[in-house]
Amino acid sequence: MPLGLVTSGESHGPALVAILTGLPAGLTLDKDAIGADLRRRQQGYGRSPRQQLETDIVDVLAGLRHGRTLGTPLTLVVWNRDHKNWLWGMNPWPPEGEPTGKGTKAVTLPRPGHADLAGVLKFGHDDVRNSLERASARHTAVHVAAGAVAKALLAAIGVEVHGRPVEIGGESTDEGMRTATDAARTDRDTLGGIVEVVASGCPPGLGSYAEKSDRLDARLAAALMGIQAVKGVEIGDGFALARVRGSQAHDEIEPGLARRTNRAGGLEAGMSNGEPIVVRAAMKPLPTLMKPLDSVDLETGEAAQALVERSDVQAVEALAVVAEAAVAWELARAACEKFGGDALEDLVAAHRAYLERIAWPRTP
Ligand SMILES: Cc1cc2nc3c(=O)[nH]c(=O)nc-3n(C[C@H](O)[C@H](O)[C@H](O)COP(=O)(O)O)c2cc1C
Repeated sequence: MPLGLVTSGESHGPALVAILTGLPAGLTLDKDAIGADLRRRQQGYGRSPRQQLETDIVDVLAGLRHGRTLGTPLTLVVWNRDHKNWLWGMNPWPPEGEPTGKGTKAVTLPRPGHADLAGVLKFGHDDVRNSLERASARHTAVHVAAGAVAKALLAAIGVEVHGRPVEIGGESTDEGMRTATDAARTDRDTLGGIVEVVASGCPPGLGSYAEKSDRLDARLAAALMGIQAVKGVEIGDGFALARVRGSQAHDEIEPGLARRTNRAGGLEAGMSNGEPIVVRAAMKPLPTLMKPLDSVDLETGEAAQALVERSDVQAVEALAVVAEAAVAWELARAACEKFGGDALEDLVAAHRAYLERIAWPRTP
């Protein structure tokens, strides 16, 4: 059964929910490990005060007993603690009484770079909030929780996934990233950056060249492009390969089937090739500026300044965690396709048998 993931939830609604299907039974989950990833997502030098306001924790509603999966849909919930300030504004039902708290007035000032303008036009909303609440990256919290589950599954077959920021605002040293963030904050501006995710321990042969939709490189690119504000994805040396000759581009094969280099980022012909998988994602500067950009008031049609709402200066460190989760989920999906199994033991046994058949890893 293929792994499936559906999420639901608005940024200031009661909760964020993820339903994971197709997980094998018998996978042990660690609540603290999921919590640690949720905290990593919230930390970061450029994050807004909301992250201190809410410490995300995961609750499980179904599919888990005594810390082990049952082989049935797993339902994860992350509560929006800030919802208490939006009880009227984000009430799922017509609210009773006088408007109070946040979100009581319709938003009519679309932000360039956000979902606001196309969202209200597409869905016929008269309040931009009806679009921005779901378009917001807040629900990446449950994707990170799902990614933690995927990492637990991958760990059972010796695969590890790590994401990290490599550039923020064009700076690649820790100090440079912080200085650039401070300067943007002072100027009431925002920044973007680049993150890298590396997955080690993948055997050759995850994914396939059989169909376009099977290709693991395409699937990882889609998983990363599906994250808010990601505007570019690079596999291995990516764009740089376009500027060199073949003799400088490909990873020569040595006895033992190891590679001298890993310019392909561990992916050839849509399959893992046994080398570490290396992918990068480029994030644009965040669209909510404290010094707002020019826009138009949708109510009057007059020129106006875009919406200002509590927002991050940059979220590149957070993206590294979200991207790690997205890559882990896609690799777990590919691993379940290849090794299958209703019980984790079956999956682990199929993985072991495959490694035996291809004699992997090989010693030269
Ligand atoms: C982890 C994370 C945090 C984000 N935080 C913010 C934020 O605080 N303010 C903001 O304007 N955009 C933020 N974004 C980006 C917007 O959600 C995104 O730009 C918007 O939904 C429009 O989608 P697009 O950039 O993919 O076109 C964040 C994105 C991520 C991945």
